[in-house]
Amino acid sequence: MTADIKTQESNCYIPIWEKQTHVESEVATCFGEKNTWLIFANESEICLKTSELLESRSQKIIYIKAGTNFEESTYTNKRHIYLDPFNESSYNKLSNLLMENKIFPKFILFFWAYLDDSFDFNINDIKKIQYLGLCSVFFFNKIISPDIFRDVYFVSFSKKQFSIKKNDTINYQMSPLIGAVKAMARENHNMHVLNLDLDDKSEFSTQGMIVNKILSWSRLNLGFENCAMRSDEMFLQLYKKTSFYTESKTNIFKDNGVYLISGGLGGLGLAFAKHISKKTCSNIILASRRNFPAKNNWLDLVKNDSKNKKVIEQLLEIDGFEDKVDVYNCDLCNHEEVEKLFKKIEVNFGRLDGIIHAAGIPARHIKHEKKVDDIFASLSPKLFGALNIINYSKVFNVDFLAFCSSLDSVIGSIGNIEYCAANSALDVLSQKLILHIKKVVSINWNQISDVGMACDFVRNYGGVIGENSITSAAAAELLEKSLFGNIGQLVVSKIKI
Ligand SMILES: NC(=O)c1ccc[n+]([C@@H]2O[C@H](COP(=O)([O-])OP(=O)(O)OC[C@H]3O[C@@H](n4cnc5c(N)ncnc54)[C@H](OP(=O)(O)O)[C@@H]3O)[C@@H](O)[C@H]2O)c1
Repeated sequence: MTADIKTQESNCYIPIWEKQTHVESEVATCFGEKNTWLIFANESEICLKTSELLESRSQKIIYIKAGTNFEESTYTNKRHIYLDPFNESSYNKLSNLLMENKIFPKFILFFWAYLDDSFDFNINDIKKIQYLGLCSVFFFNKIISPDIFRDVYFVSFSKKQFSIKKNDTINYQMSPLIGAVKAMARENHNMHVLNLDLDDKSEFSTQGMIVNKILSWSRLNLGFENCAMRSDEMFLQLYKKTSFYTESKTNIFKDNGVYLISGGLGGLGLAFAKHISKKTCSNIILASRRNFPAKNNWLDLVKNDSKNKKVIEQLLEIDGFEDKVDVYNCDLCNHEEVEKLFKKIEVNFGRLDGIIHAAGIPARHIKHEKKVDDIFASLSPKLFGALNIINYSKVFNVDFLAFCSSLDSVIGSIGNIEYCAANSALDVLSQKLILHIKKVVSINWNQISDVGMACDFVRNYGGVIGENSITSAAAAELLEKSLFGNIGQLVVSKIKI
């Protein structure tokens, strides 16, 4: 075992939920000053009751509601602004209105992503509802300026996104939001962010506790906190160092096993394939969108200076003339192609033993140049790719499913709102799948130092690979070790989180 791998083993964390005491359910009689609250309101019980409570304490409230056009209305003395969640210009108009009227909100309550979970979502529905969660926060983040939002406390509400207690069901549909708000907290020094995850029971009777939590948290001036309420108990998400790496008695990768790696021709995908091929004599399928040359041409092509020469060299090394590896063409965002991919695996091998989902697209452009397409470019291969994989791989009873997530979805990252969002979706999804698949893990990698998208970025745009990085060989060892148990999520970071 190399020193690098040993070091990395002592830098692994798992998320835990710690019960919090001292959060009173009776709201303090005196709020102190009269603050301005911007409430992204919907019809949920918790939104209505929390708003009523704040009104009864003479707080100044502006309600932002989802509509088809930007318009302002005042009825029953309440100020409502209707905003088209799909339209960036609506958010710019909101910014102008706040500026012109010298409205400087202190608290922002974001209920738009707090949705009823009583219906089944398909991928198209999940895409659409991102406009009420991820995309709204993305647009809103663009209008944040210290001129209006001076020292502001943003609270996002999510519903049953985390498993705190045994038997908690998980909604992953709005999970990208959590990564987006973490990025927002990082990008805006004047902004503090709290995510409050509620369940059905905490929805009805705990608005006093919620308001108390918000007020007491706002006095702490933290960057980001993730909390959950279950009935009338409050929990805080923390990350605990783990010693998951005790040796396994059985091999994770079996001889004659069949393993699928999405993003298989990427830096990490090839590193994982090398690792598996060294450990076992198994079949490795690398899925890629590229129209990659057929395997029977590889030996010829590697002699010429073809554009795929470097990759083919690696493939031949992995293959070792033992027919261990092949490349299958598939865009994971296209469900027909994913269906075909799994049909082909069934016909060719009749089995599938494990899946590593390593497909991903990094963030593009700087904050103000990002468009909503950039959001979906990062989100789609990760979340919708994962959903397609899960859907069409059901016929196989796989031993494991591993997601390649990023440290960015744990700590947030400047300029990477869409990437943080995409990876947080994988983190939440893995918690949901833990009950259905033998072993599931979402690994929050820090930077990979020798191959892959971080190196590509440094090569193309400059910068340096940070000290918190890890080699691809160490990552592959860690991936294997993370599958010794069924841990759901593993965070790899030398920096204390
Ligand atoms: N490298 C790092 O520092 C780092 C750090 C943290 C997390 N991660 C995560 O680890 C994973 C692997 O990263 P990497 O560094 O190996 O990145 P990479 O070299 O860029 O490889 C990722 C591959 O994903 C594939 N892909 C993208 N969209 C796809 C789609 N719709 N369908 C199928 N394949 C698609 C692309 O391959 P084709 O063009 O061949 O389809 C791409 O080469 C990513 O999910 C990344 O977010 C990486």
